[in-house]
Amino acid sequence: FGSAAEPIQRNPAYSVLNPDDVSYFKSILGNNGVVQDKDRVAVANVDWMGKYKGASQLLLLPKSTNEVSKILAYCDSRRLAVVPQGGNTGLVGGSVPVHDEVIVNLGGMDKIVSFDNVNGILTCEAGCVLENLSTFVENEGFIMPLDLGAKGSCQIGGNISTNAGGLRFIRYGSLHGNVLGLEVVLANGTVLDMLTTLRKDNTGYDLKHLFVGSEGSLGIVTKVAILTPAKLPSTNVAFLSCNDYMSCQKLLLAARRSLGEIISAFEFMDRQCIDLAMTHLEGVHNPLPNLPYKFYVLIETTGSDESYDKAKLEAFLLRSMEDGLVTDGVIAQDISQASNFWRIREGISEASVKVGAVYKYDLSIPVEKLYDIVEEMRSRVGDMAEVLGYGHLGDGNLHLNILSSKYSDNILAQIEPFVYEWTAGHRGSISAEHGLGLMKAEKIHYSKSPEAVQLMASIKKLIDPNSILNPYKVLPRSVSAAGEG
Ligand code: FAD
Ligand code: MLT
Ligand code: ZN
Repeated sequence: FGSAAEPIQRNPAYSVLNPDDVSYFKSILGNNGVVQDKDRVAVANVDWMGKYKGASQLLLLPKSTNEVSKILAYCDSRRLAVVPQGGNTGLVGGSVPVHDEVIVNLGGMDKIVSFDNVNGILTCEAGCVLENLSTFVENEGFIMPLDLGAKGSCQIGGNISTNAGGLRFIRYGSLHGNVLGLEVVLANGTVLDMLTTLRKDNTGYDLKHLFVGSEGSLGIVTKVAILTPAKLPSTNVAFLSCNDYMSCQKLLLAARRSLGEIISAFEFMDRQCIDLAMTHLEGVHNPLPNLPYKFYVLIETTGSDESYDKAKLEAFLLRSMEDGLVTDGVIAQDISQASNFWRIREGISEASVKVGAVYKYDLSIPVEKLYDIVEEMRSRVGDMAEVLGYGHLGDGNLHLNILSSKYSDNILAQIEPFVYEWTAGHRGSISAEHGLGLMKAEKIHYSKSPEAVQLMASIKKLIDPNSILNPYKVLPRSVSAAGEG
């Protein structure tokens, strides 16, 4: 994985799959739900970046909560390790096996259960693809509260399990706020029905939050109830450039003041991102081709009054130019221009993996300091690698990508542990939105106290005592590894 760390040993506490296990799974899922075909299993063993690769022999495709329950009850009794998988677009190695864990992919559970079109509450199965849900709710006059570049493949269960942030976070906030209810299957097969659709419910501990962001380590999410905001008629997108990072910060503050009630995205990219996108993405063009600028900002507004919203954004842009915050800028005149702007921003991850090796960091850092680490990283790696800084500036979330043609220990030694120490030193988070997965399970202490990690391990032990769910991920092995039993 481009890591100089010791390879992770298979924990011998887990059983090895045998033909009787496969026969049992066929008896509950039928032949179509039990995949042993080498090519299909190989695809499920590798993550989206092609960076993490397991050696599972078995991919299970349940079609119902009851089937998930039977799978887990059996795996728990046999002590077979399991990796829950959604769209397999995760970026921290959480969605693929490390060794021979059984892969349980939720893609076959993709039905919409109900839609309350008075309150905008969608209830659906966990395997629904985000983009399909967006299309569905948009036809009902609503939108999904989250949007991300992986929308065409990622599943709502995966989004919830990673607590995905994405492009609308600045407006609609975290999934901890938008998810109203969940149905989850625990490691021993117990179905935990928390599928309420109420906005307010203070009866005891709000257990669903344990599963939001737990990356498949505490249970398999099977159904979801989620709040969807009303679809508003007017959307505008501007693509702007700034000469320095201070101007980007001032622009964010100015946008919050002047566009506060209509702002729906505030994304930023440095010039290296634009160059990369222009080189590797097909069919995109630079909206500001006249000069190379140091920084680019994409601002989207969404509101209820077309002429008022547009006039507001135009006036904001003009004022920002007069104040010297913005050097150049354009407002999309039609949908195709707007999608070109978005394609550049959303395509950075796709373009990054085309270079070869990508070291990916996803940091929460106070906005004033957020770009400092990009510059420091550039001087550390020199000409060994290209460093990109982009992300959800409005949320204080930097994506730091370090790209080179091949993984190398020399590059990694310049990056880690520096990136984690620097982030901890600024009281930031080493995972703003992608999770810890396999990549950062051993690094959690940079962002969480020993007491907090210990409590997490106790919760894991209580809910999944045989530690069959997503082993080697999320928590350090010293506190979470399955023991002989
Ligand atoms: P997977 O990748 O399959 O799984 C992710 C984790 O969740 C794994 O640990 C897995 O075990 C677990 N899991 C999956 N389904 C379930 C389930 N039903 N029950 C329990 N556990 C489950 N993330 C952001 O936060 N913001 C972004 O803007 C963003 N943009 C992205 C853009 C691209 C192009 C790509 C490739 C990824 C992006 N991501 C982003 C990463 C993001 O985490 C995922 O895309 C998404 O949330 C994962 O969903 P998935 O269905 O693919 O889950
Ligand atoms: C993004 O915001 O583009 C994503 O989180 C994905 C990435 O950083 O690669
Ligand atoms: Zn992101």
